[in-house]
Amino acid sequence: EQIEKGGYDHFMLKEIYEQPRAILDTFRGRMLSNEGIIRMAGVDDNIEKFLNAQRILIVACGTSWHAGLVAEYVFENLTRTPVEVEYASEFRYRNPIITEKDVVIAISQSGETADTLAAIKLAKSKGAFVFGVCNVVGSSISRETNAGAYTHAGPEIGVASTKAFTTQITVLTLIALKLAQKKGTISTSEFHGYLTEMSAIPAKVEKTLESDEHVKTISSIYKDATNFLYLGRGYNFPVALEGALKLKEISYIHAEGYPAAEMKHGPIALIDEQMPVVVIATRKGHYEKVVSNIQEIKSRKGKIIAVVMQGDTSIKKIADYVIEIPETLELLTPLLTTIPLQLLSYYIAVMRNCNVDQPRNLAKSVTVE
Ligand code: G6P
Repeated sequence: EQIEKGGYDHFMLKEIYEQPRAILDTFRGRMLSNEGIIRMAGVDDNIEKFLNAQRILIVACGTSWHAGLVAEYVFENLTRTPVEVEYASEFRYRNPIITEKDVVIAISQSGETADTLAAIKLAKSKGAFVFGVCNVVGSSISRETNAGAYTHAGPEIGVASTKAFTTQITVLTLIALKLAQKKGTISTSEFHGYLTEMSAIPAKVEKTLESDEHVKTISSIYKDATNFLYLGRGYNFPVALEGALKLKEISYIHAEGYPAAEMKHGPIALIDEQMPVVVIATRKGHYEKVVSNIQEIKSRKGKIIAVVMQGDTSIKKIADYVIEIPETLELLTPLLTTIPLQLLSYYIAVMRNCNVDQPRNLAKSVTVE
């Protein structure tokens, strides 16, 4: 097992560090940025289904559901097709309206999650076209779906999902870009801009990983907190949810993720000097609004850990700690902002002597209801 961990203390840390490679493997051969082409057999062979879809329904559980939420923002923005994201467990039992005009995307790392599998069967029985985004090749979900695209993350052993999440976002973004190009909902230059920037993401993830020591220091300061709040807006709202989930899963600290502007409708009541608040505050997308959220936290004495874009100066003045990510397009920021949140939960869990790779009560793949 030590050998399999490749010199890392835990699989989770190894998998966090594998992300530059995993993301590259996921778009390699599919995205030809110089030629301006995205090639994905499962999408290309069924392009009419996607283009004629009256809506896209995404079903998933856990971290995969968070990737689905990011995809909702990405798809709607790029393709202008309405998207709904559902917990597979809710979807399957609520007599959902679903027709042959819907495209259903099922996201699952393991490809074995019972609720997701059942949701797929239900959608198929109603005539919908079901597309799978799985990591495990040959898994039940990859076999049950009409078509699909694998994430090429490689085996993920740590129960808390890391590289599966970022590669799911990568695949889903490629699909959205391909559809947007076909539909003409983005311009050729925008399309090329996204491809060029996507090619730069593995190196930028690598750069983001350099925050490791700094995140470790922050972890040592807040490791004994009993609650954490995570805030983000737009594309980074689901990242806030995912950051909170990571912390809960492996360090057993109660954490909540919230859209930053919703803070005033409840969570603000919890803020005092004991409450660390992780705020994703990239310079893109509602920046001023997030800055004012940070000021509200500050005036209630909350502790602020902000994930900002390189060169940010205003937030540095108010936050207790800042973690920088390299500059990128707003739509791609989740691929970078997620990284320090994974490291934060990892180091806090290690410092609390938790079983990082196999947290209590959790399973890597949930094959029962
Ligand atoms: C379990 C795992 C999570 C995962 C979820 C969905 O809860 O512990 O890490 O996100 O199942 O799994 P899937 O394999 O369908 O992505």
